[in-house]
Amino acid sequence: MIDAVGDEAVVELRVAELADAPTMLRLIHAAFAARPPVDPPAAALSETLADIEAHLVEGYGVVADVDGVPAGTLLLTPRADGVVYMHRVSVHPDHRQAGLAAAMVRGAAELAADLDARWIELLCRREFPQTLRWWQRHGFTIDREDDLGHILRRRLPVRVEVPTADDMHRLGASLAGLLRAGDLVIATGELGAGKTTLTQGLGEGLQVDGPIISPTFVLSRIHPSRVGGPGLVHVDAYRLGSAAELEDLDLDASLADSVTLVEWGAGLAEGLSSDRLEVDIRRDADRGDTTGEDEGRQVYVVGVGPRWATVDLGVLAVEGATR
Ligand SMILES: Nc1ncnc2c1ncn2[C@@H]1O[C@H](COP(=O)(O)OP(=O)(O)OP(=O)(O)O)[C@@H](O)[C@H]1O
Ligand SMILES: [Mg+2]
Repeated sequence: MIDAVGDEAVVELRVAELADAPTMLRLIHAAFAARPPVDPPAAALSETLADIEAHLVEGYGVVADVDGVPAGTLLLTPRADGVVYMHRVSVHPDHRQAGLAAAMVRGAAELAADLDARWIELLCRREFPQTLRWWQRHGFTIDREDDLGHILRRRLPVRVEVPTADDMHRLGASLAGLLRAGDLVIATGELGAGKTTLTQGLGEGLQVDGPIISPTFVLSRIHPSRVGGPGLVHVDAYRLGSAAELEDLDLDASLADSVTLVEWGAGLAEGLSSDRLEVDIRRDADRGDTTGEDEGRQVYVVGVGPRWATVDLGVLAVEGATR
């Protein structure tokens, strides 16, 4: 799992091995010690190496390396009810940077989706309303309360196998069947992952004017419908440094009567709408499980917000699998 964050730093996410436990313990202690004290104190602070090792035996860990240096970690514990419990979400204070925690959580959600879980949950201490808002911006909602805080949960992405570029095109076309005017799609994935290919399929499915090309030099392009349906607004946020610059594109004006797809929108475009479809494209090679010749991709699709609460995205996986 590789994730580009910002312009320079390369964030690499990996599934922890038992040998990572000492590093994870150090990161967890550093991150939790940097938080304002709470009563009772976070259990993380008194956790030992044996505890971390036990967590790794019964579940999974994720380690985020920034330019090769371990900078963040988290633990995942699968439960029998289709929920993966995420805990000890830690970013070392020396490595606080835009997007790192979000990249870790995205990786964690993918890992949990690969485990066939339906939900990811975590505890957010009641003392930290700002942290609660961060989780809410990242699609988590309060499910219930417990003694120490809110139990937050988020639906896990549906995973679609996409062996070829044609399949990616078809996935985009199937996606069109689920979308309507006002919908926002945020597409993530490294250079050449297939975001534009997916958008081309989407444009075909929506029956909008083409050609849909990589809008890297033009930040956004409007493709009107040929059939009186919603148009497609195709945005490339790669060169945008901030959500404020995205606002300058004035997408709000077209949002309501179009389908809007933002490439490289993660971390920037969430503010455009509380309802959105997040599409994260991963290459087989990123996952270290092919020789590099394979052109396979895994696409993780998750809906965030009330708009998507009752939409069955599983149809995308089924359609993908039957071709
Ligand atoms: N399974 C696959 N899915 C999608 N694209 C594939 C696949 N296999 C090979 N490809 C090729 O990979 C390339 C993907 O390019 P595309 O422009 O869609 O990526 P992108 O994510 O938009 O890149 P950028 O970050 O530069 O905008 C295309 O040349 C496509 O033919
Ligand atoms: Mg592109």
